[in-house]
Amino acid sequence: MTASGAQAPSPFRPGLEGVPATQSSICDIDGQRGVLTYRGFRVDELAAQSTFLETAYLLIWGELPTAEELREFEQEVQMHRRVSFRIRDMMKCFPSGGHPMDALQSSAASLGLFYSRRALDNPEYIVSAVVRLIAKIPTMVAAFQLIRKGQDPIQPRDDLAYASNFLYMLTEREPDPLAARIFDACLILHAEHSLNASTFSARVTASTLTDPYAVVASAVGTLAGPLHGGANEDVLEMLESIGSEDQVEPWLDRAIAEKRKIMGFGHREYKVKDPRAVILQKLAEQLFDAFGHDPMYDLARKLEAVAAERLGPKGIYPNVDFYSGLVYRKLGIPEDLFTPIFAIARTAGWLAHWKEQLGANRIYRPSQIYTGPAGRDWQPIGAR
Ligand code: CMC
Repeated sequence: MTASGAQAPSPFRPGLEGVPATQSSICDIDGQRGVLTYRGFRVDELAAQSTFLETAYLLIWGELPTAEELREFEQEVQMHRRVSFRIRDMMKCFPSGGHPMDALQSSAASLGLFYSRRALDNPEYIVSAVVRLIAKIPTMVAAFQLIRKGQDPIQPRDDLAYASNFLYMLTEREPDPLAARIFDACLILHAEHSLNASTFSARVTASTLTDPYAVVASAVGTLAGPLHGGANEDVLEMLESIGSEDQVEPWLDRAIAEKRKIMGFGHREYKVKDPRAVILQKLAEQLFDAFGHDPMYDLARKLEAVAAERLGPKGIYPNVDFYSGLVYRKLGIPEDLFTPIFAIARTAGWLAHWKEQLGANRIYRPSQIYTGPAGRDWQPIGAR
């Protein structure tokens, strides 16, 4: 309060740093110790023990499922994996050179045309929207990949689990079980991360009580940017442009002097190495042991070591995007699908936040500090 009794204006925080914008019981980040939990469970334990669908269930419904609940959820998701031929035909009209994130945003939004009954107070509607989105987003990502190569999308296979089926729809080959298991763990690691930009976007959209397909489409659009999910593509490009280990130090010194951001480094919440990067690095090593080494991994490790000396004192360490690209590359996934894969996983988190937002909704409508001119007189065009 000011002396006159009026409410004092809150200080402006660019990027809303440190400003709580919601209450949530979904995910917690301890950025000083590098610990990430979903509904109270450590993400490293989930990545080692759980499956993506079980983790999605946990995030969205708040508890680990019983065996029967999980079987039912998996079955429901499996039954809804196919997408309408109309959506596939629409995707055939997309430019083949367009970014798969744009294709995904458009196709996710188009689901609302098919399932538009906005019955947000009906628990069955909520369940069916959750199932459809988790089931169909991977199918749409894989469909665009084949369509842009001039091929017809292949149908999901009912005998394959979630991660294996996605890799199968993408590559037309049944994946090696270890590769599928590692990919599933990657999905777990990307499934949720509190109020990041895309989740905030999802909650703002949800708060207007629009349909869940619009919620996910708006979040996909937000995830696409290079400061958020798009960074995973840029990391490989960056490593390629460094070229060799002996170039790491001069390259990094130049980048720091030119005040360029090092892709895959830094995080608003973490002041230590992102726990997801620690796990992804181990998964990358498992893949290299099984399927052959990638020399770009040595370059990445050298960059991490040199950056620890130069940027570590500022609390800037590898984030989730630093090693994920190397894992996906080893799995044979094209670079511009890295962010759509992030979206497949994060759909679980967005839906958990959508559901939570509906449970205690108030529309987001923050204030602003006006900095423009005032009291101007309109001038006829000839007098300007
Ligand atoms: N490389 C070099 N310097 C950095 C980096 C980086 N990657 N990140 C932050 N800094 C420096 C920045 O220059 C600034 O320095 P100074 O105070 O001297 O001006 C200081 O650290 C604070 O940076 P900021 O940009 O104000 O921090 P932020 O919390 O607004 O941004 C971030 C967080 C993730 C956007 C940022 O670290 C960044 O741009 N990283 C590179 C892109 C990236 O890897 N993004 C993926 C994020 S994790 C997954 C996800 O969210 O999708």
